[in-house]
Amino acid sequence: MKSDLKQSDTASFTVNGVTAELPVFKATHGPDVVDIRALYKHTKAFTFDPGYTSTASCESKITFIDGDEGVLLYRGYPIDQLAENSDFLEVAYLLLNGELPSKAERQRFDTSITHHTMVHEQLKNFYSGFRRDAHPMAIMVGVVGALSAFYHDSTDINDPYQRRVAIHRMIAKMPTIAAMAYKYSTGQPFVFPRNDLDFTSNFMRMCFAVPAEEYALNPVLCDALDKIFILHMDHEQNASTSTVRLAGSSGANPFACIAAGIASLWGPAHGGANEAALNMLEEIGSVDKIPDYIKRAKDKDDPFRLMGFGHRVYKNYDPRAKVMRKACHEVLDALNVKDEPLLEVAMELERIALEDEYFIEKKLYPNIDFYSGITLRALGFPTDMFTVLFALARTVGWIAQWREMIEDPNQKIGRPRQIYTGAPKRDYLELEDR
Ligand code: SDX
Repeated sequence: MKSDLKQSDTASFTVNGVTAELPVFKATHGPDVVDIRALYKHTKAFTFDPGYTSTASCESKITFIDGDEGVLLYRGYPIDQLAENSDFLEVAYLLLNGELPSKAERQRFDTSITHHTMVHEQLKNFYSGFRRDAHPMAIMVGVVGALSAFYHDSTDINDPYQRRVAIHRMIAKMPTIAAMAYKYSTGQPFVFPRNDLDFTSNFMRMCFAVPAEEYALNPVLCDALDKIFILHMDHEQNASTSTVRLAGSSGANPFACIAAGIASLWGPAHGGANEAALNMLEEIGSVDKIPDYIKRAKDKDDPFRLMGFGHRVYKNYDPRAKVMRKACHEVLDALNVKDEPLLEVAMELERIALEDEYFIEKKLYPNIDFYSGITLRALGFPTDMFTVLFALARTVGWIAQWREMIEDPNQKIGRPRQIYTGAPKRDYLELEDR
């Protein structure tokens, strides 16, 4: 990656009686940044920002979010335009390479990904070590982490060719590994990928085909899932992407870094929210129960939160949630599902929350996870597979951000500091003196 940091101003920072003159870099879009790399050297003070609410961890050209306006751009293209007009592998190419592919570039990329979708036959042995009722995210963390044991020829992160092979392997094998995790939970046999199917149709078939009969692909459902994957592909320096970057900054191989990202995404405050949001809608059960849950969500003493609501960056409607809600109606219409009770609860919950002073004042809007659960369940996936699907799509963003970090001339091993407020220095106390 070529660094494009351009100084536009200087910030004076005075602490402990010392003033540091710090460069300010101008962004293409969004906030400029104060470069504090020399702050400690001049002032012997650190900044303090748990959760990184005001801290840019890196320079990136991949994704931009305007949280106040509810805008999400992948390499400058608005997410709703990509979801409407593009498809999974074209957006994957865009995130990785920075430009939409020509016909020839697209053909080469598709061929490479398609011909990496099979996994080593011995990888299957990892699945039989899990209980059948193991959460599929636990399986994903384990199996993806194990990939580096099979691909010694693409773990040298300093070799651009090996990086490209590892990137293509990771994107291509995630659907196969995810489908195998689902099949394992059902007791049905694994289904091999097919080279004559597009990325998302291949995944649907690996999940739902059985050897006893031909599987009939439903193009409307495959198209909806492809759109859902595009929405989930990347999102700046969220918790799991930052985990991948931090793991990669030590030189760990890309497969291990992606496994770390999967582990971080699993949390209910992050990618696990789609599973938690559907469980919440089922717990609420009917529209008349909504006021009780809204009351609980506002009660500081109650740990309950509206899953699928609120966001660290979006203080407006998550643009992905708008596309997600449309896809939800398309899928339910295509399946002729007329009275989905959970959709009724979701839409009424959204209406009430958006009119409620608490949510308005705290700028809490539905996020991508609010409608995805209803849609994914209608597509035939069990609730515990929802975050696996999120991880399948986000692997593209993770691996694109990992490569950008490796190629960043300013890249260093990530090593945050702290403010220490523990016991002052003291001498050892013998037992008889305690
Ligand atoms: C994803 O970062 C990303 O980009 C993530 C993601 C991606 O694509 O990678 O977009 C994917 O993770 C989406 C978010 C999914 N998580 C959920 O839906 C879980 C429910 N949401 C919350 O846990 C929360 O909103 C977070 C974790 C998403 C954001 O938390 P923040 O930014 O740390 O905000 P906060 O927790 O400090 O909340 C601010 C205030 C608090 O009240 P006060 O302490 O200021 O009085 O809003 C309240 C919170 O109590 N609040 C909620 C709420 N979310 C925040 N109150 C009720 N219900 C909620 N959902």
